[in-house]
Amino acid sequence: MTNPTFRKIDGKAIAAEIRAEIAQKVAARLEKGLSRPGLATVLVGENPASEVYVRMKRKACAEVGIESFGHHLPEDASQNQVESLVAELNADPRVNGILVQLPLPGHLDEEKVLQTISIEKDVDGFHPINIGRLAQKGREPLFVPCTPYGCMVLLERAGAQIEGANAVVLGRSNIVGMPAALLLIERNATVTVCHSRTRNLPEVVRRADILIAAVGRPEMVRGDWVKPGAYVIDVGINRVEDPTRKRGYRLVGDVAYEEVKEVARAATPVPGGVGPMTIAMLLQNTLRAAEIADANENL
Ligand code: GUN
Repeated sequence: MTNPTFRKIDGKAIAAEIRAEIAQKVAARLEKGLSRPGLATVLVGENPASEVYVRMKRKACAEVGIESFGHHLPEDASQNQVESLVAELNADPRVNGILVQLPLPGHLDEEKVLQTISIEKDVDGFHPINIGRLAQKGREPLFVPCTPYGCMVLLERAGAQIEGANAVVLGRSNIVGMPAALLLIERNATVTVCHSRTRNLPEVVRRADILIAAVGRPEMVRGDWVKPGAYVIDVGINRVEDPTRKRGYRLVGDVAYEEVKEVARAATPVPGGVGPMTIAMLLQNTLRAAEIADANENL
């Protein structure tokens, strides 16, 4: 180890702390006679990764005392079927949050489905009104998308100075890159968003005091792309073949962690970095949705 100041950002441990706080708050609600928070998950089709994610989310709900309602529609479900299900869940008072797992099968109109979700139940923060508010000064979304929200919490807990920092976001997806850039702007970072057409990518990345990598390319960010002392958040979860593993593959991020830890001040590992935080923030958003429902009931 040639970089004695490096620190791993332990998303697994931080997410466990957050889940414990949520479990306590759920228990306190029940003691006060308030409702048990509920999350509905909607999975369409047979995408194996999506099935794993939904299962993990429902298991995490059970562990903190949030009720989950799983809905699984066939691959050939119609637009109308999906929207009708979402409408039913909007009307169900036991359901505080609605999560439609993405990506949806190609024949479905994702934007229309997401628009159907009541904004008070949009715990993923993907409704155009929530995203629109995130993009505007002085406006606040009801919910912030879980993965970028988790990235911000990790940066804060790692002690990164966000205000005034040069932040680079690699990737401009609706789910991670774009909302992450908006959150960093809100916190007064100077933000550059890079993508597949960016010229001199390593040079741009080398200016980053804070780097969020979310492109889905295994270990693309090398050690010599990283500014000494930078904070690096790796959102990538990529399978690479590995015959030495029983299952035939291992998971790596978008960042070459072993190289980057020789240069950076702090970085998240994969797995055990951003992944568990996404789920913890979903639980937090669901608890918040229950609190919003209580407040609306008392209006
Ligand atoms: N697909 C990949 N990430 C997410 C997420 O955070 N929420 C949903 N609903 N789908 C996803």
